[in-house]
Amino acid sequence: MRQSSRAAVAALAAATANAASLSDVCTVANVQSALPANGTILGIDLIPSAVTASTATSSPGGGFGGMMMRSDSDTYEYCNVTIAYTHTGKNDQVIVKYAFPSPSEFENRYYVAGGGGFSLSSDATGGLEYGAVGAATDAGYDAFSNSYDEVVLYGNGTINWDATYMFAYQALGEMTTIAKPLTRGFYGLGDDTKLYTYYEGCSDGGREGWSQVQRYGAEYDGVIVGAPAFRYAQQQVNHIFSATVEHTLDYYPPPCELAKIVNATIEACDPLDGRTDGVVSRTDLCQLHFDLKSIIGEPYYCASENFTSQGFGFSKRAEGSSTTYQPAQNGTVSAEAVAVAQGIYDGLHDSTGKRAYLSWQIAAELADAETQYDSTTDSWVLDITSIGGEYIARFVQLLDLDNLSDLDGVTYDTVVGWMDTAMFRYMDSLQTTLPDITDFHQAGGKIIHYHGESDNSVPTASSIKYWQSVREAMYADASYSDSVTEMADWYQLYLIPGAAHCGTNTLQPGPYPEDNMQTMINWVENGVKPSHLNATVSSGPYDGETQMLCQWPTRPLWSSNTTFDCVHDQKSLDTWNYTFDAFNITVY
Ligand SMILES: *[C@@H]1O[C@H](CO)[C@@H](O)[C@H](O)[C@H]1NC(C)=O
Ligand SMILES: *[C@@H]1O[C@H](CO)[C@@H](O)[C@H](O)[C@H]1NC(C)=O
Ligand SMILES: *[C@@H]1O[C@H](CO)[C@@H](O)[C@H](O)[C@H]1NC(C)=O
Ligand SMILES: *[C@@H]1O[C@H](CO)[C@@H](O)[C@H](O)[C@H]1NC(C)=O
Ligand SMILES: *[C@@H]1O[C@H](CO)[C@@H](O)[C@H](O)[C@H]1NC(C)=O
Ligand SMILES: *[C@@H]1O[C@H](CO)[C@@H](O)[C@H](O)[C@H]1NC(C)=O
Ligand SMILES: *[C@@H]1O[C@H](CO)[C@@H](O)[C@H](O)[C@H]1NC(C)=O
Ligand SMILES: *[C@@H]1O[C@H](CO)[C@@H](O)[C@H](O)[C@H]1NC(C)=O
Ligand SMILES: *[C@@H]1O[C@H](CO)[C@@H](O)[C@H](O)[C@H]1NC(C)=O
Ligand SMILES: *[C@@H]1O[C@H](CO)[C@@H](O)[C@H](O)[C@H]1NC(C)=O
Ligand SMILES: *[C@@H]1O[C@H](CO)[C@@H](O)[C@H](O)[C@H]1NC(C)=O
Repeated sequence: MRQSSRAAVAALAAATANAASLSDVCTVANVQSALPANGTILGIDLIPSAVTASTATSSPGGGFGGMMMRSDSDTYEYCNVTIAYTHTGKNDQVIVKYAFPSPSEFENRYYVAGGGGFSLSSDATGGLEYGAVGAATDAGYDAFSNSYDEVVLYGNGTINWDATYMFAYQALGEMTTIAKPLTRGFYGLGDDTKLYTYYEGCSDGGREGWSQVQRYGAEYDGVIVGAPAFRYAQQQVNHIFSATVEHTLDYYPPPCELAKIVNATIEACDPLDGRTDGVVSRTDLCQLHFDLKSIIGEPYYCASENFTSQGFGFSKRAEGSSTTYQPAQNGTVSAEAVAVAQGIYDGLHDSTGKRAYLSWQIAAELADAETQYDSTTDSWVLDITSIGGEYIARFVQLLDLDNLSDLDGVTYDTVVGWMDTAMFRYMDSLQTTLPDITDFHQAGGKIIHYHGESDNSVPTASSIKYWQSVREAMYADASYSDSVTEMADWYQLYLIPGAAHCGTNTLQPGPYPEDNMQTMINWVENGVKPSHLNATVSSGPYDGETQMLCQWPTRPLWSSNTTFDCVHDQKSLDTWNYTFDAFNITVY
């Protein structure tokens, strides 16, 4: 029965060149017959009786919290399939949804979209616009309705390791491992037909993408990762760093004062890249040549407002915007505020001066440093971001709390210690910085890695650091320039001038890439290796301009208002090179 159904579909597809209709293939029986048999995927037992299949229509555009790159406005008919599996001998259950395009639209592709914050993507339809099967997994902890931070603890002190490994890398890897034979069987693909496998995501979706490259490398052909929230222990604890600087220096700047510092920095550093366009395309030159102290004494003013904070939509727990009142702020930039800004941009060091982590690039917004207004004392006070506070409470202190109540007694050494604890504890799950990705490379995989140069959440330099770690791990015997050239054959890194976290920046009207999947498909399927990344300016004086972005480690330098070159500038590159010697082990 199963054999004949699968064979029938295969025969149909082969004989009539994709003439099968969606309703022909979108049946429970066809999906059941395509499920990989127990014993064929180690550790995974599929449950045929749980299969559902029905036709559905996708809704246009959307995506998860701006982390997905999907922007099309088309709708697609597809086969909405759910399957369930259990881990051999475990009696658990994982549900996966797949969206199969109509046979006439299927282009032998499979596509995984990343999530963001503490969520995996719950939308399986992201691949339809590329003629690709898409998928989403509930990861065994009902990830369609729970975000991972809600389930990481069973209670105070008890970590849910199953959920942790599933969120960290396993759920997506299993989803893809099952998807490949399932897709082949569903459409009756012959053994000689390649099924191209893609991944695309930003922020935690970027981390998730790297988790796949590192752990399931041979499964993927093309991976697009933006602003990855990897080096997870350092990345998440770092969200408490800005507040710690304020607490340590005992100065809580009004938000307007910090905003003025950022604006003045942008204005001063904008021309250093050769063009005055409101964009700091070279934060390295800004770091080398601009002194924040020159802003001291400049006036700032912000009208009173009822401010609606969206946060980063990072945690479901902290979701839902909150409205706070900010009084008018009128003053001049103080030395104290500049010291706070400088301390933040310098990055975390321990009390002996050893570096623990890197920071946001100068000219990036100081988002985590925002203070809150206390109307009872008419003053600005500490505001611990819930991103950092919750991570430290739950993942480091293992307490079922959403935030830290204060920073009493917290020093820079305390923060280093939190990073150290989390790095050790989650080294083989969430840390996601294994630098040897030979399996992926040897299987022919390609990576486009991008990062906004003014990202205010995941520091831009954290991507550079990982690129360096991969280069050093995999090309230890090659010269610097040979290793750079060879790595660019399969792993390319691009910084996006002025861009914020996984999107454009309201303070800098710079370019942003919109067609990364086209570029990747062309690279994977047609062998067209990119040399630049296509990005378009969508606001400001150069609205509509296309900029073919420079590939790291070259840097942009405008020679006129219309032309830039991608130059090699060692002094600038050196500003991106960090060693985290506050830790006693290598941090990749
Ligand atoms: C595979 O194993 C699962 C779990 O034991 C079971 O529910 C399922 O029926 C098995 N599949 C087949 C085709 O026997
Ligand atoms: C897909 O199928 C599942 C299982 O029947 C159902 O719960 C879900 O609502 C369907 N989704 C869409 C978009 O039709
Ligand atoms: C967990 O620990 C926190 C902090 O000590 C405490 O406030 C809370 O009551 C504890 N929860 C339970 C269920 O004991
Ligand atoms: C900073 O610049 C933005 C626009 O670029 C403006 O909306 C904002 O009011 C400025 N803030 C301050 C404090 O100057
Ligand atoms: C803020 O909201 C309060 C209460 O709703 C209102 O009285 C006040 O006028 C608002 N202020 C501004 C600047 O919008
Ligand atoms: C800000 O304060 C200065 C000095 O006190 C004053 O001259 C100026 O009018 C104030 N600006 C606004 C917009 O209130
Ligand atoms: C986290 O806790 C701090 C200190 O109690 C508080 O100021 C802040 O508003 C809290 N943040 C959130 C998002 O709950
Ligand atoms: C760059 O991307 C835009 C937006 O997707 C597209 O319209 C344009 O054709 C692309 N240009 C190049 C040179 O690839
Ligand atoms: C380049 O742009 C700047 C700022 O918009 C303008 O002042 C300058 O005249 C332009 N240069 C040329 C050569 O057009
Ligand atoms: C980065 O700095 C370290 C230590 O100063 C040095 O050994 C290394 O060669 C530098 N790496 C690059 C790529 O410049
Ligand atoms: C590294 O080792 C030194 C010397 O034993 C110690 O003082 C320091 O606390 C260690 N650092 C961390 C992050 O554990």
